Amino acid sequence: MATKVVIGAQWGDEGKGKIIDILAQQAEVVVRSQGGNNAGHTVEANGQQYKLHLTPSGILNPNTLCIIGNGVVVDPGILLGELDMLQARGVSTDNLKIDARAHIIFPYHRELDGLSEIARGKSDIGTTKKGIGPAYMDKAERSGIRMCDLMNRELFIEKVKANVELKNKIIEKVYGGTGLNADDIIEEYLGYAKKLRKYVTDTTVLLYEAIKAGKNVLFEGAQGTLLDLDLGTYPYVTSSHPISGGVCVGTGIGPTMIDECIGVVKAYTTRVGKGPFPTELFDEIGDQIREKGHEYGTTTGRPRRCGWFDAVIVKYAVRTSGLTSIVVNKIDTLGDIKKIKICVGYRKGNEIIKEFPPSLEELELCEPIYEEMDGWEGDIGHIRRYEDLPENAKKYIERIEKLCDVRVGMIGVGPGRDQNIIKD
Ligand code: GDP
Ligand code: IMO
Ligand code: MG
Repeated sequence: MATKVVIGAQWGDEGKGKIIDILAQQAEVVVRSQGGNNAGHTVEANGQQYKLHLTPSGILNPNTLCIIGNGVVVDPGILLGELDMLQARGVSTDNLKIDARAHIIFPYHRELDGLSEIARGKSDIGTTKKGIGPAYMDKAERSGIRMCDLMNRELFIEKVKANVELKNKIIEKVYGGTGLNADDIIEEYLGYAKKLRKYVTDTTVLLYEAIKAGKNVLFEGAQGTLLDLDLGTYPYVTSSHPISGGVCVGTGIGPTMIDECIGVVKAYTTRVGKGPFPTELFDEIGDQIREKGHEYGTTTGRPRRCGWFDAVIVKYAVRTSGLTSIVVNKIDTLGDIKKIKICVGYRKGNEIIKEFPPSLEELELCEPIYEEMDGWEGDIGHIRRYEDLPENAKKYIERIEKLCDVRVGMIGVGPGRDQNIIKD
């Protein structure tokens, strides 16, 4: 298996958690490289459902080392809550390690996330309000506080005081909000420090040694390609790098240490939050997909916007992440739709657009060009072999391969660990 990167190839929520859990059964190490608890990864294993936001989905496998890499922004209260939940359900968290360089989310980040969204008014981004953007802003501004700082009491107190003083000015004077109390934050976070100390280390060394020893390592993507700060639908993006390139900076490995890049997609498209979505459906088929596919956010509970499969964006993900194969999840959700559409390009006036445009203004002028395919009837959740899928479902998968210029390696026919078809 060697080293595999698994990323979202649409706007997130493609079912990455499920795929990581399946692949983690052969992995010795699972690593998160970026994002924070804006992610929500649902895993259904042993008849139970787990919703994980920060802990790598490999945690359900007792022998897998789970790493939260340097590129992740960690909200310690949320992480400890998640670890408590796992322990209460009999899952050992002893195999977790957190990189000492990972930046920490503070209450002022969450406050500023909410206030800046209000200030944007109608042009708000629709963030998860978990403080992700403001935490990455501090990182880039070089005032962020890291896990290694939290482990150093005096330094930590000094850094929090300086940050709170400045943030309170912004909260109060710029946004007219109510400032926060530095001492309360210090007390709360020093409490977290005691509980987190045993997990914090230099994970880049662990990872290097694991790869050198030929261990199977999985990199668990969060968010999706179109939410990437550089390559996504800016500014309607997250503040980190969900594409495969983000894995190197976010975990401290070099590109030559990656063997495979797997993109996860849904058999249709969803998006939660605001921003362009060319194939969005506003009719009863969209509602049908939302209800049948339970398309409600794992993190915020918001209804997900639903639409047809867009081959332009998946091809874009194949290109920008060097994907070696893709997993197509949730094909079961499309059952009983008579005619299924795939977007094969965009029409802008008289022009045919085949590559995803960088400018949102240009994208707004684009109309999807659809190809229509016959659907299939009945439930396919029990099928485990590719040849047993309905003919039209196979045609749909093969069309996706052709249009996106990539091999489909796995197909998801349900949320369960076993509801999975290996192709080829
Ligand atoms: P992630 O953020 O990419 O890990 O995806 P989420 O967990 O946010 O959303 C994916 C949802 O789809 C979860 O509720 C999964 O349990 C579910 N799911 C994953 N694969 C399949 C599938 O093949 N079929 C169906 N019906 N549900 C799936
Ligand atoms: P997983 O890992 C879907 C979206 C938010 C919003 C935008 C910016 O579960 O696929 P942020 O809070 O990150 O500043 O919000 O990004 N977003 C996601 N959408 N799945 C996710 O993660 C997401 N993480 C962030 O809805 O539009
Ligand atoms: Mg999710």
